[in-house]
Amino acid sequence: MVPASEFERRRAALVEGMDDDGIILLLGHDQAPMNYPGNPYPFRQESSFRYFFGLDEPGAAGWLDLATGDQRLYAHVPDLDSVIWEGDLPSLGERVEPYGAVDARPVADLAADVTAVTRGRRVHTLPPTRPAGRERLTRLVGGADSSPDLIKAVVALRERKSPAEVAEITEAVNRTATLHRLAMAETRPGLTEDDVVRRLQAAAAADGWEWAYPIIFSVRGEVLHNLGHDNPMESGHLVVNDSGVTSPGGYASDVTRTFPVSGRFSPDQLAVYDIVRAARAAALARAGTGIPYRAAHDAAGRVITEGLSDLGIMRGDPDESVAAGAFTAFMPHGVGHMLGLDVHDMEGLGEDNVGYDGRHRRAEAFGLSNLRLAKPLRPGFVVTVEPGVYFIPKLLRRWAEQGLHEEFIDFTSALRFERFGGVRIEDVISVTTDGVDLLGDPIPTSPADVEAACTG
Ligand code: GLY
Ligand code: MN
Ligand code: MN
Repeated sequence: MVPASEFERRRAALVEGMDDDGIILLLGHDQAPMNYPGNPYPFRQESSFRYFFGLDEPGAAGWLDLATGDQRLYAHVPDLDSVIWEGDLPSLGERVEPYGAVDARPVADLAADVTAVTRGRRVHTLPPTRPAGRERLTRLVGGADSSPDLIKAVVALRERKSPAEVAEITEAVNRTATLHRLAMAETRPGLTEDDVVRRLQAAAAADGWEWAYPIIFSVRGEVLHNLGHDNPMESGHLVVNDSGVTSPGGYASDVTRTFPVSGRFSPDQLAVYDIVRAARAAALARAGTGIPYRAAHDAAGRVITEGLSDLGIMRGDPDESVAAGAFTAFMPHGVGHMLGLDVHDMEGLGEDNVGYDGRHRRAEAFGLSNLRLAKPLRPGFVVTVEPGVYFIPKLLRRWAEQGLHEEFIDFTSALRFERFGGVRIEDVISVTTDGVDLLGDPIPTSPADVEAACTG
């Protein structure tokens, strides 16, 4: 649990990190309307608001006055009407107590108080991530222009996780580990993807766990973010299970395992799986304080290039091949991203503001342009390591037609794998001063452990 004192420290550090004497205004998310079949009350708190003010309730807002140091938190105070429709609540004081000393007021006073306090002053806001937030911000301060200074200060704080945050993420990974084991045990030929997904959802719901992002669970793992679950699962298929739940404090996990539906890897599956495992080891070996995360991406790419060359799928000089980015035909995504309250942490603040800096700019090249995090790692960063190898028939055919990277890719051999799907292995690590820690309980990764978990 993140203690009250830590919320106080975060707010103080944010004030400290700003250079002028304006006002920081942070809005929480609102309740969504009821028109979402099957999910009538989809509320998830805005992550930066939650990070600084903690309160996990719809409609809340807060401000920090950089001139006076005043801290205000605005939240709902029940009236008879809201008691009738939504039920009663503990007092505002009780509800905000876990988040440290702050002046808590009824949200009904927010608009008048914001008008009074912001008059003639600079107002710093973050990019609204939902249309309703944009409208609310416009109503309150006349516009929704976000503040680059505030974005920078918020990223600088949120990217360095405290021990309490690392403990939350570890707890999220531990919960996720039990669900990944369950998925391996439950999967068998003759079921559909949906059969297993429903079991995972039931298991998570039974413990009150929430998903950090939509479940990717598919025998068509070559579709990187495949959100459909209606394929039948047959012997010979591989399942990519990319799914994770949150911790009690709302922190995400993001874990992928790939396993055979039959419980036994075929020789081809094992060969590709071993390449991804070796790429994972290489990326982990290059992950550390001061090292740009681009180096871990390149290290994974190098191992994939060598491994696929051993299988006769790639060819040519590995240095030239990696430099040309030929492996992106098989891994068109980045090797990882930051993780925290959001699965792609702080994505709403602009990915380039989070994963890149003045010295590391996003590449335009296919594949590498999808790398969300390239800048050097620092102690406290929590990031995913998620190499993969996929056989995407349309991509391979397109490149074959274009002759793209034909000196490095044997397209005839690659297309022998056109029904293979894909393999991804994803874990969460925290960066320390002298290395990295793999977070959470072990989740089967070696082929022997995966097969044992599949066959019980
Ligand atoms: N689960 C989405 C991702 O790995 O980025
Ligand atoms: Mn990920
Ligand atoms: Mn993932």
